[in-house]
Amino acid sequence: MAYSGESYEAHLDRFRKSAHIRSLDQYRALHRESISNPQEFWARQALAYLVWEKKWDHVHLADYEDARFEWFSGGRLNACYNCLDRHLSYAPEKVAYYWEGDDPGLKKVVTYKELYQTVNKLASLLSVKGVRKGDRVAIYMPMIPELPAAMLACARIGAIHTVISSEFSAKALSSRIKDCGASAIITSDLGFRGGKVFPLKENADAASAESPSVETVVVFNRRPKSSCRWSHKEVSWHDVVADPAIPDYIPPVPMGSEDPLFILFTSGSTGKPKALLHTHGGYLLYAAMTTRLTFDIKGKEIFWCTGDMGWITGHSYGVYGPLLNGMTSVIFEGVPGYPDHRRFYDILSSYRVDTFYTTPTIIRELAREGDSHLDGYDLSSLRLLASVGEPISPETWKWYYHVLGNDRCPVIDTYWQTETGGHVLTPFPGVAPLKPGFCSFPFFGIDPVILDDTGEPIESPDQEGVLCLKKPWPGMARTIYRNHDLFIDTYFRQAPEIYFSSDAAKLDEEGHFRIIGRVDEVINVAGYRFGTAEIESALMEHQSVAEVAVVGHPHPVKVQGIYAFVTLKPGIRKTESLKKELAEAVLREIGIIASVDVIQWADALPKTRSGKIVRRILSKVASGETKDLGDTTGLSDPAVIAQLIQNHNS
Ligand code: WT7
Repeated sequence: MAYSGESYEAHLDRFRKSAHIRSLDQYRALHRESISNPQEFWARQALAYLVWEKKWDHVHLADYEDARFEWFSGGRLNACYNCLDRHLSYAPEKVAYYWEGDDPGLKKVVTYKELYQTVNKLASLLSVKGVRKGDRVAIYMPMIPELPAAMLACARIGAIHTVISSEFSAKALSSRIKDCGASAIITSDLGFRGGKVFPLKENADAASAESPSVETVVVFNRRPKSSCRWSHKEVSWHDVVADPAIPDYIPPVPMGSEDPLFILFTSGSTGKPKALLHTHGGYLLYAAMTTRLTFDIKGKEIFWCTGDMGWITGHSYGVYGPLLNGMTSVIFEGVPGYPDHRRFYDILSSYRVDTFYTTPTIIRELAREGDSHLDGYDLSSLRLLASVGEPISPETWKWYYHVLGNDRCPVIDTYWQTETGGHVLTPFPGVAPLKPGFCSFPFFGIDPVILDDTGEPIESPDQEGVLCLKKPWPGMARTIYRNHDLFIDTYFRQAPEIYFSSDAAKLDEEGHFRIIGRVDEVINVAGYRFGTAEIESALMEHQSVAEVAVVGHPHPVKVQGIYAFVTLKPGIRKTESLKKELAEAVLREIGIIASVDVIQWADALPKTRSGKIVRRILSKVASGETKDLGDTTGLSDPAVIAQLIQNHNS
């Protein structure tokens, strides 16, 4: 495949002519202003992007000692009003979502007005059921347009939504509901993915039976209502929408800029997933602005972000960012490869998608199945291709650019995290030279620095360190719900006045950032983030297990796979069927996304003299390395390693 720097330049030129940010100089000037004069810069943006019920008193306040950050405090606005009501006067019939079901025969078109009507009914119902400002509502739904409707209904009445991806199991759902004390669950009877049926309501029933806080369960039925059991807590979505007694309109509750908008659970290196909390004003502004500028949105685009709405990508670029900008998006319920490998090309061409945002895992999957599947499709609508979630290898980047994009579309590699709310590093289309594998430049307000082990900034190129952010930015998470100390310790204690990302990064000669990967015990499997501790505790649930250690290992499609070293209790036989049982235990505890790729029996695990498992060595064993295992002198029993190496692949 030819790699031509010139062709990148040619289409950058085309983009440049009409882009919001037209030159590197313009970008640099604005970026400089966003860092040196954030008060004025962000005040201007907040007025341009959002409608405020009351203007703020302070643009921003920061206290690093206690990790307290405020944006536009004193101001009041409503997220749902900004996403829906304000577009109704000029574009009620504009399509908000094109929905494509897992079954290719299922499609739906939802206009802004229709979405508004559904949201008002649902918000009225929640209100009738006693859900109030600040209450938590869990949303456990498949990728259907009713999912964003549920999020916006919560936002309209000031309830805090917590979306739990339908890929999570009943147990994972239950622990998240308990953790945030949700008083309502909005779910669906069933979810469909890749031709398989998922019993979401059954899982929600199990979770609600264990969670005394849950008073109401709203069920959106995909199949006739009689097909599931109903209890006194439950309400049918369809009945609500048809019920004349439920008001068609409920006024949006004016929310303080710093009032919580949502909680989203994400994996960390210790213990249970963390309940990150995002607030109204800053998050909405950051989602709206990054959407418009990173993807260079003008308004007529058809945008397809493949991220599940149970993750931050779906929140910022499937719901809030696009709706705040009055855009049209595609929601797809299924997976690539079902019913066949032409599915993604079918969707891209039939909806004339021009802006496509997906993960390297999906790109690799498409590439791996072969270019012949593209034959016969008109993909000329594509204008911009973007990537998120994991480092994109130059090879995958080039397939994206040359094959899918037909040498015409910039590839935008966006780096960010659940914690950052929106893009942190990204090449702006038409501005940054495109470099395969690089996320290039900081977004406005982002002041990145790479720190070495001693906390000193690394100035020279090609030297690896941890990416940290020096200034607060509007989209940053404000706390871990009910655990502010953990928030401080995880992100703000590694060096004075910085946010610590936990990602290794380096710079090239021209100042472009490249992300290497996590430095903590978080592994990134197909763009999903898992704490190794989370998987370990799922394995420990099995009665045969004495001890486990989980690490990531190289995987051809998922980049990292899950590799578990398991020590069994005395007398338990090491059988293949036990391996299967253990893998199933993880699926049960976490969900279908957590499939363990390899289980290796270990008679013992390498430990330091103080008893800490040495994962560094286990990662190397899992990757098939037999030499160069690093310093092993601190181990209590170095002979353990030889045995692990011997049993690798056995
Ligand atoms: C972690 C955050 C950001 C939305 C999806 C994931 C990794 C994210 C990139 C990228 C290399 C990336 C990082 C980060 N990551 N984007 N473009 N290049 N790595 O959100 O679940 O919070 O995961 O994903 O390791 O820390 P998340």
